[in-house]
Amino acid sequence: MTPLSTQVSTRISTQAPLIAPSILAADWSQLAVETKNICDAGADLLHVDVMDGHFVPVITFGPQMVTTLKAHSSIPLDVHLMISQPERHIEAFIAAGADIVTVHQEACPHLHRTLQQIRECGAKAGVALNPGTPVSALESVIDEIDLLLLMTVNPGWGGQKFIPQSLERVRSARELITKSGNTIHLEVDGGVNAETSKQVRAAGADTLVAGTFVFGSDNYKRAIDALKE
Ligand code: DX5
Ligand code: ZN
Repeated sequence: MTPLSTQVSTRISTQAPLIAPSILAADWSQLAVETKNICDAGADLLHVDVMDGHFVPVITFGPQMVTTLKAHSSIPLDVHLMISQPERHIEAFIAAGADIVTVHQEACPHLHRTLQQIRECGAKAGVALNPGTPVSALESVIDEIDLLLLMTVNPGWGGQKFIPQSLERVRSARELITKSGNTIHLEVDGGVNAETSKQVRAAGADTLVAGTFVFGSDNYKRAIDALKE
């Protein structure tokens, strides 16, 4: 956990964003190679999109996949749980190697307790908000989180178009974080490319998830550098 905290404070102070490529958009028949290549290309976090076919329509990965990715990754795993009742699986994902675990506010009736559970199990705690959920929903748990993830598309699929109204939400989330005085990543997820990355960074995001833009490129390093420019 220490390397991540150091990375975070350094990056925030130098204004360069952390880049978290989403393995969802990689070639699944080559996951070990893809993981190694993306680490070598300068990714800061490996974003793992876990979907359960219930909270979102699609089913993707479980903890076993996290174990496999962990074995090939030299960077922290940023595990985004798009699942119902995430509290039932948090321990397993952290035991498998998740460094950051992000749950959806919409999936957690006992959000405060669930965030404490993540920290108690030894990971950084994140909360994600769907595009329709107000940022103010996190006011009362702001001291329990290490990462605030704003969905800039509706969760469920990669390759969707960035929702422009998200920019105002990024600004509100940045205000909330600044007001709290806490060190919290502000991550955006969905439709991030060379153009939208500049907009979300100007609005206050410091961590960018990118699936299609990075893994769809024929040069991962160039794509990551374009997001950091
Ligand atoms: C959507 C996922 C995203 C997605 C991003 O449900 O949470 O992480 O894979 O993919 P792109 O960058 O292609 O929008
Ligand atoms: Zn995601």
